[in-house]
Amino acid sequence: MVDRVSLFRIPTEIMYGFGSIKKLGEVATGLGAQKVLIVTDSGVRNAGLLDLVTAPLEKSGIDFEVFADVEPNPSVETVEKGQSLLKEAGCQAIVAVGGGSPLDTGKAIGLLAANGGRITDYEGADKVPHASLPVVAVPTTAGTASEVTINIVITDHSRNYKLTIVSPKTVARVALLDPIMTQSMPPEVTAATGLDALVHAIESFTSLMAYPVAESLALEAIRLISNNLRQAVFNGKNFTARDNMLMGSLMAGLAFNNTRLGNAHAMSHPLSAYFDIPHGVANAILIPYVMEFNVPSAPEKFALIAEAMGESTSGLNTMEAACSAVTAVTKLNRDIGIPQSLSDVGAKQNVILEMAQDAMKSGNILVNPRTTNIEDIITLYNKAFGGVNRKSLNEVG
Ligand SMILES: NC(=O)c1ccc[n+]([C@@H]2O[C@H](COP(=O)([O-])OP(=O)(O)OC[C@H]3O[C@@H](n4cnc5c(N)ncnc54)[C@H](O)[C@@H]3O)[C@@H](O)[C@H]2O)c1
Ligand SMILES: [Fe+2]
Repeated sequence: MVDRVSLFRIPTEIMYGFGSIKKLGEVATGLGAQKVLIVTDSGVRNAGLLDLVTAPLEKSGIDFEVFADVEPNPSVETVEKGQSLLKEAGCQAIVAVGGGSPLDTGKAIGLLAANGGRITDYEGADKVPHASLPVVAVPTTAGTASEVTINIVITDHSRNYKLTIVSPKTVARVALLDPIMTQSMPPEVTAATGLDALVHAIESFTSLMAYPVAESLALEAIRLISNNLRQAVFNGKNFTARDNMLMGSLMAGLAFNNTRLGNAHAMSHPLSAYFDIPHGVANAILIPYVMEFNVPSAPEKFALIAEAMGESTSGLNTMEAACSAVTAVTKLNRDIGIPQSLSDVGAKQNVILEMAQDAMKSGNILVNPRTTNIEDIITLYNKAFGGVNRKSLNEVG
């Protein structure tokens, strides 16, 4: 028997619930900050969410500076710009408000503030010596769970590469999750980010590093997300759906933070690096093909996913039940308007080899339930471009 030690860490303090954003002033005071840098983007600002953030800070007498220049798939340069502003303004903490892009940028700025150097110096696992400047993470999408994860994902345009920093030293000190902050998400952002959360849960549940503590969180996340995503997309004001989606995303994040992910995430990062495809959209398009590839390696697990997604599996054998999980995800994608092919979102097949080489560098490949080589990744990219076997998935449901 090979030694196998599972680790479950939740270094971030999690505050969850409607109205929790009103606690931001107290939280920042608790971190000893007199002035904070708010890291966000123009979409979040235009949605009017900044007032909900600045009001509790003002009430607690906390000064702030706003950096709202974060772009989707944030770049090395954006992190450096934010870091300069933090220094100039003399802030002692960061409040990151937004989807994964502002949250990762806020965490990256906090890392640089405490460790110096360039963000590229810390690429990879456990390369960060000192704990980051305190970060309060306020998610406005129900997707990445960056508010609780040990990961930071930043795009290095000089080499068309999304670099990942994996370190418990960079986690947000406090995650403040208020579903009200997600209400203004437009349907297509709700759909893409919600699918990202579902892919986190599916890949965590089936990861080779999965174990019961993480599996129970992942399976419940699959249930919550697949029962609420359509409602959140088609009626953004459905509070129950928004609440359940944010909880599902959080639970999926707690799970994958401890198990890593799988082939879909390994393959989605190169797509975003080369073609600036939104992270959730790339994962959503890839996941049916990756699941189809993985089903034979873990049919019992995929059968449980099918059940959690509401598929009727009675009378089916394990393989048939497992395959219906692929059907369920394909139907969900179709219902919420996810594009079907990578060509539909502007990706080009001429760099499949380069993307496959980059995907193979990801630690997620090693924990994918089915052993995967570069030829497998190339085949999966080709399928997702609308090649081999696309028909079988499109005909589903
Ligand atoms: N750190 C991690 O563990 C982790 C995990 C998965 C993904 N990521 C990274 O996160 C990034 C993607 O984050 P994302 O999918 O949350 O999207 P995002 O942060 O890029 O946001 C997408 C768009 O939605 C808008 N938006 C966000 N919230 C809104 C709201 N409430 N109302 C109106 N508009 C809103 C933004 O302005 C933006 O235009 C990628 O770079 C990805 O690699 C990180
Ligand atoms: Fe993701």
